[in-house]
Amino acid sequence: MKILVTGGLGFIGSHTVVELQNVGYEVIVIDDLSNSSEKVLDGIEAITGVRPIFEKLDLREKSKVQDFFKRYKDIDGVIHFAASKAVGESVENPLLYYENNVGALVYVLKEMIAMDKANFIFSSSRTVYGRLDNRPMSEDLPLMPAESPYGNTKKIGEEILKDVCKVNTNLSVISLRYFNPVGAHPSAEIGELPLGVPQNLVPYITQTAMGLRDELSVFGGDWPTKDGTCVRDYINVVDLAKAHVTALRRLLDSKNESNFEFYNLGTGDGNTVLEVIESFERVSGTKLNYRIVDKRPGDDAMAYADTRKANEILGWKAESTLDDSMRSAWNWEQKIRS
Ligand code: UFG
Repeated sequence: MKILVTGGLGFIGSHTVVELQNVGYEVIVIDDLSNSSEKVLDGIEAITGVRPIFEKLDLREKSKVQDFFKRYKDIDGVIHFAASKAVGESVENPLLYYENNVGALVYVLKEMIAMDKANFIFSSSRTVYGRLDNRPMSEDLPLMPAESPYGNTKKIGEEILKDVCKVNTNLSVISLRYFNPVGAHPSAEIGELPLGVPQNLVPYITQTAMGLRDELSVFGGDWPTKDGTCVRDYINVVDLAKAHVTALRRLLDSKNESNFEFYNLGTGDGNTVLEVIESFERVSGTKLNYRIVDKRPGDDAMAYADTRKANEILGWKAESTLDDSMRSAWNWEQKIRS
């Protein structure tokens, strides 16, 4: 079976390529290398023994997308990661986000609806639920107005898919709503490669411990949580990657109950920022330099998943602990700086 992975050299994409190849799928990767490197192919090959087919392609170029699908007529499924993902950047440059995350999606879907049977996995985000403190986010909640252009592209992406699925019954879609992806492959051959100063907590922690950053700013110490710092649901990237394979299998086997399904991918548990730091200190044996500072605009106190739908229907459950994730993230950080 041939699977196209767009954005397959990115953080979640590369881990998913590994899991697909581990169970025998033939993978074709498309990536524009705007936030990734061709060296990731070496890491994928080192883990799996197989170098996926790679095409450098910008999905905003409609004619190139058309040409790609003309050349690869026998694709059995598409996992679509290619997108921009920085919330702050999306506020500064919304059109980049609408073009990359919505425009490119439309071009890919146009090609897919022309297939006899098309299977599509979409990278969505818990951001579609908006703010919801003090209770787990479950899939029966309505989509809320987005808090950033980035968030809006995920919400619009899901709405586009739902509309297209209504009239194109040859298309089956599963949208996966990620909570906070963290960690790296246990081999330390692939992991997260943030450009510039990391915006996310875990790469900021590992870079601080490595001496690349002076100290971690913990955004807010008086949130209504058990220790005053924000709670998030940190999901291990390998667990997340495996969920994509499970979701794809469901579509390939025509086990889906509707042609547009959506699932949360998280652990179902929340951890505070201080707990994440403690976990890092425990597994690395180093003391982290951090300081509690003012809240970051746009943050909310708590976000964690109700994972029952993914557990019961997809038959998927996160297996790694927070310590596992912090250990692999730290091993990866040490490897890339050595
Ligand atoms: N945090 C710090 N210091 C930092 C970075 C983060 O204290 O230097 C805290 C944040 O305040 C938050 C937690 O660590 O409480 C996690 O922050 P991240 O930036 O790693 O993740 P977010 O939950 O803010 O963002 C995630 C995704 C985004 C997505 C957003 C909403 O990374 O892509 O959820 O869905 F848009």
